[in-house]
Amino acid sequence: MKLVVIQGPNLNMLGHREQNIYGPMKLEEIHNQMALVAEQNKAEIEFFQSNLEGEIVDKIQECVGEADGIIINPAAYSHTSIAIRDALVACGLPALEVHISNIYRREEFRQKSLISAVCNGTIVGFGPLGYHLAMIGMMQIFQEIQAMRKAQEEQAKEQ
Ligand code: DQA
Repeated sequence: MKLVVIQGPNLNMLGHREQNIYGPMKLEEIHNQMALVAEQNKAEIEFFQSNLEGEIVDKIQECVGEADGIIINPAAYSHTSIAIRDALVACGLPALEVHISNIYRREEFRQKSLISAVCNGTIVGFGPLGYHLAMIGMMQIFQEIQAMRKAQEEQAKEQ
């Protein structure tokens, strides 16, 4: 099973940008922890960060036939991007949205995510721990997919 982690604009600045909101952890450190969880669960994992909306759309499209799930923090694009939302719907893969900060306690323009409604779940306000929680959620989704595939295979054998 393969998971793709997609990080939106300015998340490459974690550890430097607004530490009072996002904390001191760097993106690389977050990714190292996620890689460990993936390894423990025998899942493949790939990380992608871009500051460009179109590159994020391209990456989501590339996931079709390549990946089994997506964890995405679209960052500022969460509040504006119909293109990223449409790409997630089009790719048809299970997706979990993460926000490091509690967007509902922040400026009004951050309180609406266009992405949440097309994701299986959203984790908000837990800091970098949110990515770990998303990993637990996605590993559960992967187990369910594998169980479903196994049941389908057994059903096909019986026919
Ligand atoms: C963010 C919240 C967004 O509003 C903001 O633009 C970000 C990060 C978060 O993880 O809390 O860049 O997605």
